Amino acid sequence: MYTEYFGLAELPFSISPDPRYLYLTPQHREALAKTQYIVNQKGGLAVIYGDVGHGKTTVARRLYHLFKEDQNNQTALLITPDLKTDSALLRRVMAEFGVPPRRSHALSLAAFQDFAAKAFEQDKTLVLMVDEAQQMTPRMMELIRVFLNFETDTQKFIQILLFGQNELATTLDKMPAIKSRVAMFGALTNLTRHDMEAMIDFRWKAAGGTQHPFTAEALDVLYDLSRGRPREVNKLANESLIRAFVSEQSEVSADMVRAAARELRMDAPPAPSEAKPKKRTEKKAKAKA
Ligand SMILES: Nc1ncnc2c1ncn2[C@@H]1O[C@H](COP(=O)(O)OP(=O)(O)OP(=O)(O)O)[C@@H](O)[C@H]1O
Ligand SMILES: [Mg+2]
Repeated sequence: MYTEYFGLAELPFSISPDPRYLYLTPQHREALAKTQYIVNQKGGLAVIYGDVGHGKTTVARRLYHLFKEDQNNQTALLITPDLKTDSALLRRVMAEFGVPPRRSHALSLAAFQDFAAKAFEQDKTLVLMVDEAQQMTPRMMELIRVFLNFETDTQKFIQILLFGQNELATTLDKMPAIKSRVAMFGALTNLTRHDMEAMIDFRWKAAGGTQHPFTAEALDVLYDLSRGRPREVNKLANESLIRAFVSEQSEVSADMVRAAARELRMDAPPAPSEAKPKKRTEKKAKAKA
């Protein structure tokens, strides 16, 4: 594609959640630091939430790799808990931590508690990370609450990090028994204009480039049309670069960004449903677009 043309080793604006491309805005930095602190202190539960495409999965993967580096940690990352029941979730969690299932839910839970207590005694840290946690049913949430009851007076045997779209926070508002156990809520919101530019610069260099080719006016338009939503910034930046490449220009102009937005149908006013996204359907529609 255009990588060679722009002197890059890789595509800089892929929409995959590759943690190497995560630019740490003050918000991301804070979410990462606080989450690590809670895990180290064995504080129990942390929740990171935000709108679609705001970097939750990318942050989850960054943390997963960080936790993995420490031999004392045992970390499981469930990507999509598209499991039907709390028992299925329990079995999956046990499998991730290498604990064999027992004949019943109650026996399995007891075995898992035993395992978590032993790990705690041996000064091991168990970290359970769940992405797309807004999809969890109330019974699955209840299982999370039970896991948090595996504890001493001051510390939890298992550290749990939930990542999910905004509904996750509103769901927890309705579940005070779990909400009161949340040691940290971290919100990921739209990037500022400054952070968007810094993210573009960072990703360009991470992909092997030197100076990114977007003009200042192109960046303004990119910001207006993406409203600082990271996945949209990436999609628009990628599409704009294709235009510059095809027309053999070394700079990306504001007009190229506008044309790219039309191509991606990002210049249309936001649909009313965007104010309160219905997750799965909106994502599917976007994937098709
Ligand atoms: N701070 C950031 N720095 C660099 N890239 C980012 C940042 N935040 C998000 N992105 C990029 O935006 C895209 C979407 O990120 P990601 O998939 O992590 O979002 P998400 O919040 O998990 O979305 P969803 O709600 O759809 O699951 C990815 O390409 C990711 O690399
Ligand atoms: Mg995600």
